[in-house]
Amino acid sequence: MAPVALETPTHINGASTPVSISKKAHAFDPATQHLPDIDPSKLTIKLSHELATVPAPETLTFGTIHTDHMLLLTFSPEAGWSAPSIQPYGPMSIDPMASCIQYATNIFEGMKAYMGADGRPRLFRPDLNMARMKRSADRLALPPFNEQALLELIKKLIMVEKRWIPSAPGCSLYIRPTMFGTRIGFGVTPSTSATLLIILSPSGPYFPGVVRPISLYAESRVRRAWPGGTGGHKLALNYAPTLRPTREASQQGYDQILWLFGEDDHLGEVGQMNAFVVLKRDDGSLDVITPPLDGTILPGVTRHSVLDLTRAHSPENAIPGLPADLVLHVQERYIPIAQLVEYSETGTLAEVFGVGTAAVLVPINRIGYGEEGKEIKIEGGANGFGPIARAVREELMAIQEARRPSIWSVPCDEE
Ligand code: COI
Repeated sequence: MAPVALETPTHINGASTPVSISKKAHAFDPATQHLPDIDPSKLTIKLSHELATVPAPETLTFGTIHTDHMLLLTFSPEAGWSAPSIQPYGPMSIDPMASCIQYATNIFEGMKAYMGADGRPRLFRPDLNMARMKRSADRLALPPFNEQALLELIKKLIMVEKRWIPSAPGCSLYIRPTMFGTRIGFGVTPSTSATLLIILSPSGPYFPGVVRPISLYAESRVRRAWPGGTGGHKLALNYAPTLRPTREASQQGYDQILWLFGEDDHLGEVGQMNAFVVLKRDDGSLDVITPPLDGTILPGVTRHSVLDLTRAHSPENAIPGLPADLVLHVQERYIPIAQLVEYSETGTLAEVFGVGTAAVLVPINRIGYGEEGKEIKIEGGANGFGPIARAVREELMAIQEARRPSIWSVPCDEE
């Protein structure tokens, strides 16, 4: 029987944009479909008549305001991906039975655009975000899409919204690609239709106030992720269950949670960031360790970049700010919390820090564990930064802000 196509209105800024939604009962299988993919040549741009005032960079916090426009695409099982549209930012209405509301078929990405001193906006390793987003969509059986085509559209949106990119150090235009399932119905089946949005938010520091170290509570009663689960994908549903434990940690005086897993309670993530631990060896060399990508850890773009930079550190290719002859032993391995306590007690523990797109790199100065108010304390230098955290953060930001030329920094004004 032919699928029944319904025209369901999606209201944006008062205008009604028809979204075709299928009520067919069988699962959407991209392998058997030959539907139109995202086509940047079909982009239409409708500019807003009322442009907002761009705030001064020093007033910016993380992710609280949006720019004037957004990019919208919809997918239907009959027509595939719609023509992309850049249009005024505005609220949308959605059917209460939509898959994303009922079954959390929502994925997102976090990226940033930086304004170079030459006035050219740039993205940081955007191909990694596109590949991860495609994997996230696949994990929730959302429609596949051409990553290069989506990236081309993101660049176009950034060029339209160029005036919103703050050029002050530590500020950027945060990019939030978002996709959600819009199939209507209570059947627990893949969403055969979807909406893909790109929205932008000029942002200052992720943690408000001056750059400072944060504290963690090592949580072993509640788990963020587990083998075979979804922790290695960027799904909205991974974040919601962390909210109450994080609020409880905050009530105990900690900024974020150090997520643990396994019978040995090994380190997972730091709040919404990937964790790094630096240990001292007797010969003066250092171990730089992060948990392995076993499915419980998000494959972060910043994590990837910290591994790349520290692995490449050598006399010929030294990270500025670190001794060229410093030997770094970079490893992806488990660290049980009891071992971290031991490293701290024996004076081996040098640094702990979290890394992520939003926060870049944040040092940790205190980790609460167990139920008797025990704490690991980590000494840092100025603002709590150890030498590795300081040098790696500075190098990442120099590349992101195009102060250091790198193939990781991708101009938005080039195809
Ligand atoms: C990131 O740092 O990449 C994040 O995704 C954090 C975000 C959930 C605010």
